[in-house]
Amino acid sequence: MRILVTGGAGYIGSHTVAELQNAGYDVAVLDNLSNSSEKSLERVKMITGKDVTFYKADILDKEALEEIFSREQFDACIHFAGLKSVGESVAKPWEYYQNNITGTLTLVEVMSNHNVKNLVFSSSATVYGDPAIIPITEECPKGQCTNPYGWTKSMLEQILSDIQKADPEWNIILLRYFNPIGAHKSGLIGEDPNGIPNNLMPYITQVAVGKLKELSVFGNDYDTPDGTGVRDYIHVVDLATGHVKALNKIMENAGLCIYNLGTGTGYSVLDIVSNFEKATGKNIPYRITERRPGDIATCYSDAGKAKKELNWEAQYGIREMCADSWNWQSKNPEGY
Ligand code: NAD
Ligand code: WQD
Repeated sequence: MRILVTGGAGYIGSHTVAELQNAGYDVAVLDNLSNSSEKSLERVKMITGKDVTFYKADILDKEALEEIFSREQFDACIHFAGLKSVGESVAKPWEYYQNNITGTLTLVEVMSNHNVKNLVFSSSATVYGDPAIIPITEECPKGQCTNPYGWTKSMLEQILSDIQKADPEWNIILLRYFNPIGAHKSGLIGEDPNGIPNNLMPYITQVAVGKLKELSVFGNDYDTPDGTGVRDYIHVVDLATGHVKALNKIMENAGLCIYNLGTGTGYSVLDIVSNFEKATGKNIPYRITERRPGDIATCYSDAGKAKKELNWEAQYGIREMCADSWNWQSKNPEGY
C-alpha cells in the first residue's frame, strides 16, 4: 500500500516513515522543509534500506498537490504538516490559521478530488485545554485552548469530523498526541528544533551537551506531588508505531475515530530531570523560575481506548526516552 506522509521530514513524521517502511508500506513524503531538513529522509533510508519518494511542496499549493495526486495513487494520507510553536502562534496567529487550517482544507479538497478518503491527522492533547478529567479519556470534553496553535488543532478536529459526517466514504482518525520525546535507537534521526528550544526535553539535552547553561523550571507551586508540571511523555517511536496501527484500523472502514496516544503515566519536570541524570550520567543544573503563561498543572492520558481498539500500547519507559534523546543529541550536537 502506498501512503502519502505530509510533514514527513519533521520530527514525528521521519520516525513514522521509518516504522511504515519497516511494516512494509510504500511511502511518499510531501514537505516544504520550513521546519526540517531533507537529511532526515536520507537518514531514514540508512535505517530501513528503502527509498522514500520526496516531494518538496507546500500543502497550501493546490496546483502542486493536484499534480502529485494525478501522478500516483495513494491509499491513505498521514497528515503531519503544520506549524507547531505555541509561542510563535501567539505572535503570528494569521500565519498559523492560514498554514494549518487553509493548508489542511486544501489537502483534503485535493484528496477528495482524487478519491483518496483515508486520513490520519496529528492532533494534540492541547485540545483538552485544562482537562476536566485526569487521566484524560477521549470522552473528556474539549476545552479552551490558550493559544492559536491549540485552536488550529481543535478547529481542524471539528472540520474533519464534519467532513466525515457529510461524506461517510471518508475514514478519518484523529490522534491526540501527548508529549513526544526520545529518538530512534540508531541516533540517526531525532528532534532538531530551531534556536533555543521551547520544550522541556530538547532544552535539557542542550544543557547536557553544554549549549545552554541551566534549565529554568517553570514554577514549583502547582498542585502536583512536587509542585512542578506533570505531563505524559511518550517515546516518538511508540508514537510512530501508533500511526501504523491507525492505518490498519482505517483500512477497516473505520469512519471517524479519536484516540489518545500517550503512556498513561504522568511525570513532573523534576522527575524528568532526575530520570535524565540517572539514564545518562549527566548533571542538569536547574533553577526554579516563574510559571510560564498558559501552562497547566497536570496532563496525562488514559491510554486504554487505543490499546483496546488499535491493539497499540507504548513500549518504552521514561529512562529509555531520556537515554534515546541524549543519544541523538550527543551524536548530533548541531542537529542535522
Ligand atoms: P515538525 O515541525 O518537526 O514537523 C512538521 C513538518 O511539517 C515539518 O517538516 C515542516 O517543514 C512541515 N510543514 C509545515 N508547514 C507545511 C506546509 N505548509 N506544507 C508542507 N509542509 C509543511 O513537527 P512535529 O513535532 O514532527 O509535529 C508533527 C505534527 O504533530 C504537527 O502537526 C504538530 O502540530 C503535531 N503535534 C506535535 C506535537 C509535539 O510535541 N511535537 C504534539 C502534538 C501534536
Ligand atoms: C513540559 C513541562 C513546562 C520547558 C507543548 C505544547 C503542546 C504539545 C506538546 C503540540 C511543562 C515545563 C518546559 C522549560 C520547564 N505540542 N518546562 N522548563 O507545554 O506540555 O506541551 O508541547 O501539540 O501543545 O503546549 O510541553 O515540553 O513545553 O513543557 O519547566 O524550559 O515542562 O512548564 O510543565 P507542554 P513542554
